[in-house]
Amino acid sequence: MIRARRPIKPPPSIDTKRRTAIRRRLLNWYDRNKRDLPWRRRRSPYAKWVAEIMLQQTRVETVQRYYKRFMKRFATVRALADADHTTVLKHWEGLGYYRRVLNLHRAARIVRDQGGRIPRTIEALAKLPGVGPYTAAAIASMAFNEPVAAVDGNVARVLARLFAVDLDVRSGPGQRTTQALATELVSQKRPGDFNQALMDLGSMICTPRHPKCPKCPLKSLCEARRLGRVHSLPILSARSHVKETTLVTSLFTHGDQMLLRRRPLGGLWSGLWEFPTIEVPQKHIAARTVRDMAGAEGLDVVGRPRKIALVKHKLTHRALQFHIYVCRVIPRPRRGATDLRNVTQEGSNTYAESARWVTRRRFEELPVSTAQRKVFAASEETLGLIAE
Ligand code: ADE
Repeated sequence: MIRARRPIKPPPSIDTKRRTAIRRRLLNWYDRNKRDLPWRRRRSPYAKWVAEIMLQQTRVETVQRYYKRFMKRFATVRALADADHTTVLKHWEGLGYYRRVLNLHRAARIVRDQGGRIPRTIEALAKLPGVGPYTAAAIASMAFNEPVAAVDGNVARVLARLFAVDLDVRSGPGQRTTQALATELVSQKRPGDFNQALMDLGSMICTPRHPKCPKCPLKSLCEARRLGRVHSLPILSARSHVKETTLVTSLFTHGDQMLLRRRPLGGLWSGLWEFPTIEVPQKHIAARTVRDMAGAEGLDVVGRPRKIALVKHKLTHRALQFHIYVCRVIPRPRRGATDLRNVTQEGSNTYAESARWVTRRRFEELPVSTAQRKVFAASEETLGLIAE
């Protein structure tokens, strides 16, 4: 069957006078009111790139805290490329979404191996691991003055109000419309500032619930304001709902050491260390599970596993509950993946290893997720109380 092609809607067209007025007012406002952010003080494309990767899923306030430390330790793309992955992860710890840093590190090595120059166009940037169309546009406009538009959630909200866009801004047609509007609007002379001005307007003035319209430099040009629709725009589809996940985490102790496992590369918390953890069906949490986990690690449990804490941790689409057990173990001789002879001891730093015995102090130095740090803190607290 031959399907009729959907007619391609022409992109929205903005009257030249209105476009000029929007650009001028927005950039004037930005020059007076822009946020003083550390990546805006740095000129290098590398500095912009690192910031945009950190900002992909993390709020500006949080990124600021990590950004300076990261840039101090890895001041150039070469410094990042030459560092070992554990060190890089350690400097990302707490930012979450670790696939980002895996890709950033891979991309830095690609750039180094191609001569050390960061690609200068949106197309070439988008070929780097972890750099999608939005991030490529943000970097190209900020670092290389390419007149391309970067539309994130904040920017889409501003545009949906400014032009009274009657489409769900998360849908395909909604995204294409806001992108087309932004592309028409973007300043040809100062594209990076223009994009960032829209971002700042979205986070400082044109906020989701209580927009400060009287302070907005675009108020007299805003369609939503003219139509009394500021509070009903943008139209947003409901997000898919959050999945509850139950996990059992076992703190296996042997002398003053605890067993850690390294997560596989590529998935959630890629390459980070964690206490052995498995997902279980809800209401299926028992000391028995811990014994089975110990068995799978080649460990014999001494005494009864004790449940010591419950830690809750939220991700974008998942609500995690870690049921934490502690128990003393003895490695079985010569069998199982975590036979002490097979497991790397304190101090080793090879990339391929996947299990390690560490002291509590050493745990603090390893790259682990925020969720596992919470698990550790809860166990410290409870064990401390029990010991007193
Ligand atoms: N979010 C993503 N990129 C940003 C930037 N350059 N400035 C402020 N917020 C941002």
